[in-house]
Amino acid sequence: MTRRLLRSVLAVTALGALAACNPFAGPAAGSRLFSENCVGCHGDGGQGGPGGPDLTGIAEREGGFPRRAVLDRLDGYARGLTVHVDSEAMPDMSHLMTGRLMHVDLGPGAGRMVPERVVALTAYLESIQR
Ligand code: HEC
Repeated sequence: MTRRLLRSVLAVTALGALAACNPFAGPAAGSRLFSENCVGCHGDGGQGGPGGPDLTGIAEREGGFPRRAVLDRLDGYARGLTVHVDSEAMPDMSHLMTGRLMHVDLGPGAGRMVPERVVALTAYLESIQR
């Protein structure tokens, strides 16, 4: 197994395991957050809507769900660092930063504290991949 592959397997396992034992960071919690914050643009079940693309084909496109990239992107929204490129009225996502932080192991030297709401949304997006 290559080093890089091993590292991503470890990262993926850690995120999955943490989310699994914390109900506030799992897909059910993520689904609620999605309904409150994202469904208006991305549609029911993330299948695409008036203001945003289908989010169920990310894994298909990337050849596997890019957990870390999605986590980083959502964390960026929460911190006000990333914006949706084409969106005119991107709502403030800073409340995703509230609530508890949890440690996510993203590989050697790359673990960090992430809001559990961001972890939950990532787990939800992973659960809706076709
Ligand atoms: C105001 C409309 C709007 C809202 C609200 C919104 N999005 Fe988006 N989203 C977009 C648009 C437009 C794109 C495509 C352009 C881009 O990538 O910036 C996008 C792209 C994305 C992508 C990248 C998709 C890909 O194929 O890689 C992710 C992931 C995503 N959004 C997640 C979310 C989540 C999670 C929420 C709620 C917390 C959310 N978005 C709320 C409009 C929105």
